[in-house]
Amino acid sequence: MKRIGILISGRGSNMLALADAVKHGRIPNAEIALVISNIETAAGLERARELGIPTFVHSHKGCTREEHDRAMAAELRQAGVDLVCLAGYMRLLSPWFIREFEHRILNIHPSVLPSFPGLDAQKQALEYGVKFSGCTVHLVDEELDHGPIVKQSVVPVLPGDTTEMLSARILAEEHQTYIEAVALILSGQFHIEGRRIIES
Ligand code: GRF
Repeated sequence: MKRIGILISGRGSNMLALADAVKHGRIPNAEIALVISNIETAAGLERARELGIPTFVHSHKGCTREEHDRAMAAELRQAGVDLVCLAGYMRLLSPWFIREFEHRILNIHPSVLPSFPGLDAQKQALEYGVKFSGCTVHLVDEELDHGPIVKQSVVPVLPGDTTEMLSARILAEEHQTYIEAVALILSGQFHIEGRRIIES
């Protein structure tokens, strides 16, 4: 049984999609061992509790980035976590944390990377005028929204789209793409060549 830890800061819809996929066997032989939030009032925390998933809250206020990450890592270790999934976790991780869980941290980003990294990716895409955007699940390295790409999906940008409309279209795709990416990584049916993840 593989154990997944999920880091959130907000709504947690990707976290819920992963939990549902685990429950229904779309991510086989896995369980959500722990959900961690740096924000006490994150709506996703309450949803996780309703599902009976263990939660841990650790505010980032008043400690250095690495101190904060060490506290999270201690909880993740104690929960026996094999894979850490960032799901709307709105903080940079320290290099220490990234080394500690090397190649075992996934992030989802609402654009087709390397386009539009950073905040407000959907707004950036709309303003740039691209005809397609989408989402990317990637392994986390020390650069923001940068590590080797596990899965990507594309959605059209439609005439009259607002940021909200495009975000909703991408979000529906995010949920599916994250499930596929987690299932692949946990299956171990891949290897990494430089930046490329080759499925076997
Ligand atoms: C998603 O758009 C994700 O790609 C980005 O933050 C948002 C989180 O949404 N990193 P949710 O909390 O999973 O609903």
